[in-house]
Amino acid sequence: MTVRTGLIIINILAFVVIFGIVGYRVLSVRRNPEAKSPQNLRPFMTDEELEGRKLERVLLWALWCSVIVAAALPVYWLWEPTREKDMVAQFDTQAAKRGATLFANESMKAYDSTKSLRCANCHGTDGSGGSTSYVIKPPDSGSNLPLTVTWRAPALNTVLSRFSPDQVNQIITYGRPGTPMPAWGVPGGGPKNEQSVADLVAYLQTIQLSPAKARAADDQALQEMIDTAVGGNGKKGNVATAQENLATAQQTLAKDEALAAKFPDNKGYQTNVQVDHEEITNAQAAVKNSQDYATQINQLVSTWKSGDPTKAGPAQQAWGALLFQTNCARCHTKGWSYFDPTKGAVPLPAPQGSGAFGPNLTGGDTTRQFPGDPGISQQYDWVATGVDANKQYGTRGISSGRMPHFGTVLTKDQIDAIIAYERSL
Ligand code: HEC
Ligand code: HEC
Repeated sequence: MTVRTGLIIINILAFVVIFGIVGYRVLSVRRNPEAKSPQNLRPFMTDEELEGRKLERVLLWALWCSVIVAAALPVYWLWEPTREKDMVAQFDTQAAKRGATLFANESMKAYDSTKSLRCANCHGTDGSGGSTSYVIKPPDSGSNLPLTVTWRAPALNTVLSRFSPDQVNQIITYGRPGTPMPAWGVPGGGPKNEQSVADLVAYLQTIQLSPAKARAADDQALQEMIDTAVGGNGKKGNVATAQENLATAQQTLAKDEALAAKFPDNKGYQTNVQVDHEEITNAQAAVKNSQDYATQINQLVSTWKSGDPTKAGPAQQAWGALLFQTNCARCHTKGWSYFDPTKGAVPLPAPQGSGAFGPNLTGGDTTRQFPGDPGISQQYDWVATGVDANKQYGTRGISSGRMPHFGTVLTKDQIDAIIAYERSL
């Protein structure tokens, strides 16, 4: 039995007793209707009686009550901080539980079809990141045909080592315009009130990786990116995938051409052949894009491994370029989040670092924002810790509180490498 049910039972008992007494009195008055003389006409106790044992008894009661109050107050005072702390913890646990339900998708235990927002569909059930399909209008393609791409959604089990809880609250409330991340809070045009957004942040707090694990996850992301680009560690590699797709497309074309030759009057078969030719053009482009990207990654990896990447030089810049792709490009390079060289129809990303959600860093941007040698350590501070929203950074920067900070997820050497790369852009 909890304290709560105990109190409820005591209250019910008190009600029953009070109603019982009142009811009894009312009924007993009706049963004895004979008149009594009014109280002010009846004789009362004498002064001796009033000032004797009776007074002493009243005073003794008063003393007892004072003793109880005097003893209870310090106990209350001693217990109050613990009670407050327990209450806060209890509120947090309940908020996190509600947040878990909001976050869940069908495959999770916390799922509730009337409440869940299915964040897990895009960000992964463990919050380790995922992807979602998204319709874009290919930039600069001259065509207005919409194109469905696969947009990578970042890990949320490290998000609080990159952003403060307030910043995460802000992101969830307002979403990320131009990306699959919708606004969830009422101020951003979404469906949920402040409480729900706070509950989601409380839930995210419970799934955060330790700093060591967050760093390991970041290293693993880099390794996976390399393996996907060039193949290795159980990954086929983009080039092999693109070549397989091309082979399949060629087989399909051969089949459809045979059908079209057999039934020359069938319009459907002729159209299939046309579509197959387009597929092959895309698949050929995909092979080339995958090869180009693999070459680029191979070069970066061999330069990185050829020297000491913790000292200024080409090895450091190459390491920085690779780390930039896994940590920074999704905001600073347009088209990076859906870049997939194995899909010929998906446009290639804009030049690395040329700006998207975050500003354009090319053309010597960071050497102007953080000039000279002192600028390097200023730039380090900005990337590692940042400043609060509306505070100045660099020469003419003013923080909007939207840039994540990497002092926990990346080591000093890694950040130094990224900075060296950025300053070369
Ligand atoms: C339809 C897919 C989708 C759903 C559903 C979704 N997100 Fe996202 N979310 C994304 C994508 C994609 C991004 C990255 C956008 C970008 O490229 O800048 C993102 C970014 C974020 C970020 C910023 C992370 C960072 O490191 O930049 C947070 C926090 C976040 N989402 C929380 C949530 C929460 C909480 C929910 C559920 C209420 C949710 N998301 C539901 C797709 C989704
Ligand atoms: C979630 C998106 C996001 C990611 C990821 C991100 N940035 Fe940024 N970055 C921004 C935004 C937005 C700004 C603009 C400043 C602001 O709004 O506070 C910015 C500004 C900067 C600036 C200052 C540029 C200037 O001229 O003022 C630098 C340098 C920078 N980012 C480097 C990085 C590096 C290095 C990484 C990766 C380790 C990174 N950013 C990852 C969003 C991002």
